[in-house]
Amino acid sequence: MSYLPFTRPSIDEETIRGVAEVLRSGWITSGPQVKAFEAQLSQYVGGRPVRAFNSGTCTMEIGLRIAGVGPGHEVITTPLSWVATSNVIVQVGARPVFVDIDPATRNIDLKRMEAAITPRTRALLPVDLAGLPVDRDRLYQIAHAHRLRVIEDAAQALGSTWGGRRIGSFGDLTSFSFHPNKNVTSIEGGCLVMNDAAEAHLAEQYRLPRPIIDFIRQHHGTTLVEYFFRRAQQNETDETRGEVEEHSYRYPGPKPQSKEAGVLMLADAAESASRTLVDPAPARLESLVHDLAMSRLLDGQFDDCGLTLQELHAVEESLVKSLTAVYHGRVRYPEQRTA
Ligand SMILES: Cc1ncc(COP(=O)(O)O)c(C=O)c1O
Repeated sequence: MSYLPFTRPSIDEETIRGVAEVLRSGWITSGPQVKAFEAQLSQYVGGRPVRAFNSGTCTMEIGLRIAGVGPGHEVITTPLSWVATSNVIVQVGARPVFVDIDPATRNIDLKRMEAAITPRTRALLPVDLAGLPVDRDRLYQIAHAHRLRVIEDAAQALGSTWGGRRIGSFGDLTSFSFHPNKNVTSIEGGCLVMNDAAEAHLAEQYRLPRPIIDFIRQHHGTTLVEYFFRRAQQNETDETRGEVEEHSYRYPGPKPQSKEAGVLMLADAAESASRTLVDPAPARLESLVHDLAMSRLLDGQFDDCGLTLQELHAVEESLVKSLTAVYHGRVRYPEQRTA
């Protein structure tokens, strides 16, 4: 009996070469290739801003968040979809309201959808099943008449058109998926098409907030230099002993401006410094964290972030506990049974 696969991606040699190039580049997290992909997609949808994420599920969730959907809201959707379509509504704390499909298109029945609108309805989440677009003219007539946001689940509809216009090039928020059974794949992935730069900026905040990115850029150096300092210490000979001074291996950078940034700086330093320990015994971890906190305190690193000494002490204790748990898994008693 021959086997009919549900999906078999066609991946050509050029794609394989492209992936190999990325792997060789060493930059395998979101980098220049993702930016180039976003720019190409944006061009494809007529210049609207596009941001790529790790799945079409994620892009729908971010779409809902950008649309301000949350607890107490209802979102009208179709039950005939991949389960992610309704999961994301629950994920943001809202309630999915299911409306039956039109048997001819298998997409949400727009008449019934309009009848299901209540004062709690905040958004509509229609699905272009198998790439067949929901009637966009009627959909947006209804959305505008009731002042509702639309998150188009166009996971399966990249390349589809409505009235000669590409899906994603008009409307409100459009979510595409790049899962392997979609029209274009990145193995796993998705992208969100938005209305303006402000929404794109919001979407980026859901990746990693801008202040944290800036902070990591500024402060990663602190720990890298710590590594070289320890290497230099190890290489010290009797003649050079004492010449390797910590302060000349420190890159102070701009000071953290919030408590969160202060905690992050210390956590980042403690985590990476703990990796250099040959014997990360609990007492050793405790003195490492304390030394790091003290050297940064004396450096004035915590001057602008508002952390009090008492809070700093609590942070130290918490870091020691976390690092101890990382290096020394919980001890199991001989008679202990799992529940
Ligand atoms: C209609 C529909 N919505 C959402 C998704 C979720 O996309 P992803 O698998 O990229 O999270 C899929 C695909 O799996 C889908 O087919």
